[in-house]
Amino acid sequence: MGDKPAPSDGRKHGAASDPGARHVAIIMDGNGRWAKKRALPRSIGHQRGVEAVRRLVRGIDGMGLECLTLYAFSSENWKRSDDEVDDLMNLMRKFIKSDLPEFITNDVKLKIIGDWQSLAPDIVAMLEDALAQTANGKNTLAVALNYGGQHEIARAAAKAAALGEITADAIEAQLDTNDLPPLDLLIRTSGEVRLSNFLLWQAAYAEMLFVDTLWPDFKPEHLQQALDNFARRERRYGGR
Ligand code: FPP
Repeated sequence: MGDKPAPSDGRKHGAASDPGARHVAIIMDGNGRWAKKRALPRSIGHQRGVEAVRRLVRGIDGMGLECLTLYAFSSENWKRSDDEVDDLMNLMRKFIKSDLPEFITNDVKLKIIGDWQSLAPDIVAMLEDALAQTANGKNTLAVALNYGGQHEIARAAAKAAALGEITADAIEAQLDTNDLPPLDLLIRTSGEVRLSNFLLWQAAYAEMLFVDTLWPDFKPEHLQQALDNFARRERRYGGR
């Protein structure tokens, strides 16, 4: 007693005997390659990607998750062709419009992270409406839009500094994810093994899983397999 330091930041995120995952995030990669393999336009790959999102949100019930966070549009995705950016924005419009009633019925609480307020005004208005209509939902679907992890940390650090305290806890309290459970598991599809500026702070103690499945082929069964894999891991948060 007394000679042992207080638990580190990492320890507060869980204990040695963690139950199942509460918060899973996914880098949905491989839409373009899925389409290319079939000699289809990239836009079809993205359409199928949205279908995979819908399938997953429908299938997630009963998996015990409190939050699923999806990387839908990164702050670097603006570098893609104008046509592809338009396609992705139009898919977002269509998705919110078509799936909002289902979110409300299924108790899904929508959350958006990233600099989404600088998107097109009609999308911002749709998102604000969707956020308001799902505010009382139980399980969170967080969508990262115009999101970059470094920028999120810089924004959070600036807010913490303005409040006069630059500590890890003070910065964390200002992250876009400050009302979400700690990130347990980060999955990336398509065989690429990198974070691509996604949830850099939140990934500090997260488990990672890189799977070869291209995003349009990703099904709820794949998520269940990932959760089973997670449940077998021993998390130490820097301790022994
Ligand atoms: C990566 O595939 C995927 C994206 C850049 C966007 C992800 C978007 C969706 C799944 C659709 C929109 C989502 C919602 C929630 C409406 P890629 O194009 O980089 O694939 P590639 O690496 O094979 O080219």
